[in-house]
Amino acid sequence: HELNNPLATISLRTESLLEQFADGDPKQHALKIIGQEVERMGNLVGNLLQFSRRSHQQISTIDVYKEIENTLNFIEHYLCSRQINVVREFADTLPNIHADRQQLRQVFLNLLTNASDAMTQGGTLTLRVAAGQTEHGAGAIVIEFADTGTGIKPEDLLKVWEPFFTTKGEGKGTGLGLAICRRIVEEHKGTINIESEVGRGTTVRITLRAAEGEGHGTHSV
Ligand SMILES: Nc1ncnc2c1ncn2[C@@H]1O[C@H](COP(=O)(O)OP(=O)(O)OP(=O)(O)O)[C@@H](O)[C@H]1O
Ligand SMILES: [Mg+2]
Repeated sequence: HELNNPLATISLRTESLLEQFADGDPKQHALKIIGQEVERMGNLVGNLLQFSRRSHQQISTIDVYKEIENTLNFIEHYLCSRQINVVREFADTLPNIHADRQQLRQVFLNLLTNASDAMTQGGTLTLRVAAGQTEHGAGAIVIEFADTGTGIKPEDLLKVWEPFFTTKGEGKGTGLGLAICRRIVEEHKGTINIESEVGRGTTVRITLRAAEGEGHGTHSV
C-alpha cells in the first residue's frame, strides 16, 4: 500500500489534469505518457508485491474448468484481437482440487500472457486438461498451455524460472511471471515444467493433486 497509494494519487491527478486540456494539446500528450508510465509502475509494483509476499493461502475446493474459463473470459477478446485461436481439449470428467483461487488465477493469467506475447503473429493456444497422476502415483489433474509461438532457446530453458529473467524489451516484462507461477504451484505441492522448441512453440505443464474423496469423475463439462 505504501507503494500503491502514491501511484493511485498520481494517476487520479493526471486524469483530472487531462480533462483540462483540449484534444491535441501537446500537454495532453505529455500527461498521457505520465499516465501510461504510472500504469506500468503499478504493474511492476503489483508483481513485486506478489513475489515478495508469502501470502497465506485461502484454500477452497475448486473446479479447474470454471477457473480457466473465468481467466479466459478476462483476456479472450484480447487474444482474439491478436489472431490467437484458443482450442480447449478438456477431458469429460475431472476431479476437483484444493487450491487458492486467486493464486490459481494468477498462474493461469501469467501463462496465458506469456503464450500471447510469444505469438506476435498470431497462432494457436491449446489448453489441455485431464485427470492424471503425480510422480508419486496420487490422483492429480494435469493442465497444459501449449502455444505455437517463438519458443525458448535451449540455453534459456532453466533461466526462465529465475526472478527478473526476461527477454522482453525494456519496461515490458519484469521477468517475474514464471517465478511467481512456480512459487504458487510449489506452495500447492504441485509441479510445473516447460518444454519448448524454437520456432515451434512452448508447452507449460502443471500437475496438481486432486482433492480426495470428492468430485472424482463427477464433474462433467
Ligand atoms: N510461452 C512462452 N514462449 C516463449 N518464451 C516464453 C514463454 N513463456 C516464457 N518465456 C520466456 O521466459 C521469460 C520469462 O518469463 P516470465 O513470465 O517469468 O517473465 P516476462 O514474461 O518476461 O515478464 P512478466 O511476466 O514479469 O511480465 C520471457 O521473457 C520469455 O523469454
Ligand atoms: Mg510473463
